[in-house]
Amino acid sequence: MSSWHRSDERTCHSLDGRAVRYIIDCDPGHDDAVAILLAASALDISGITTVYGNASVERTTRNALDFLDLAGLSIPVYRGSEAPLRRPRTHANVHGRSGLDGAELPISRRQPEATDAIDFIVQQASSHPGAVSIIATGPLTNLARALAQHPHIEPAIASLSIMGGTPAQGNTTPVAEFNAYNDPEALDTLLASSIPMYIVGYDLTSRTGLTDHHIARLESSGRRTATFIGAVMRFYKERQMAATGLEIAPQHDACAVLPYLTPQLARYTECRASVELVGSLTTGMVVFDRRPPQMQRSRPAPFSDRRPVRLCAMLSTAEVIETIMAAILAYP
Ligand code: BDR
Ligand code: CA
Repeated sequence: MSSWHRSDERTCHSLDGRAVRYIIDCDPGHDDAVAILLAASALDISGITTVYGNASVERTTRNALDFLDLAGLSIPVYRGSEAPLRRPRTHANVHGRSGLDGAELPISRRQPEATDAIDFIVQQASSHPGAVSIIATGPLTNLARALAQHPHIEPAIASLSIMGGTPAQGNTTPVAEFNAYNDPEALDTLLASSIPMYIVGYDLTSRTGLTDHHIARLESSGRRTATFIGAVMRFYKERQMAATGLEIAPQHDACAVLPYLTPQLARYTECRASVELVGSLTTGMVVFDRRPPQMQRSRPAPFSDRRPVRLCAMLSTAEVIETIMAAILAYP
């Protein structure tokens, strides 16, 4: 099995050396909000596209706008899909009614852009071929729709980094993680594409979180963004404890930013992946073929015609959390 430490040529710079711009496709969401802060601390974010997931798309879009305003970020927001491609949506239970419960978020005057999320993704990929990467931290419906409606953008997307799936225990079913479970067809469409892809799964992200000590540091920082994050993380941590038994506030979504920001804090292993779409017990499970190469000589469909993805196999958890903390604390 080969190990990956760093992206290939399609991930950081376009072929002609231009810097890559990023889109964050998300459903904020406590950990999505932190992923936005982390990504925007160092990457050129051309837009945030929203999707249902942790709450309705109306709510996640409003959360994105209000939160960006609080953090002093003027990134445009594009509203996306309100439901999965073919299934009813599954509700999250750890983010509260608003999707970002735990503190009052001042309502901003900002509104979403007139263009919708799918058109924005298509426009960006078409206008900057090979120079747009996407960080996806919610159900994958927007991206699957963009690819299905405009297949020409597939080779134009430099890379994609997904928080979703798990090679171990799930959080929504015994084997399925929330983002994968919500729209398994969408994730499978992406896995069948030629887009260079990173995936970080629940197995690792659920161990990468803020403790009470971190939360207290944020709450007492005297900075409005960190104070807000501290308060909502306290709520989220309690919900996690009740729902999953985790004793931290897991930062699932920030882990999807790492390949572009601090690749030295993660290691990836190359494998093919496919989503179970018809299982009686296993729908939404991502099956990663991590067998050694000699065992993959007789690779069954659909793995046989798939390009390998880079599945995160190790995270330097303490350093990741300190990187996240430093990014949050740098905002006003
Ligand atoms: C994922 O589900 C959501 O609740 C989080 O925001 C994260 O994207 C973890 O399974
Ligand atoms: Ca999310």
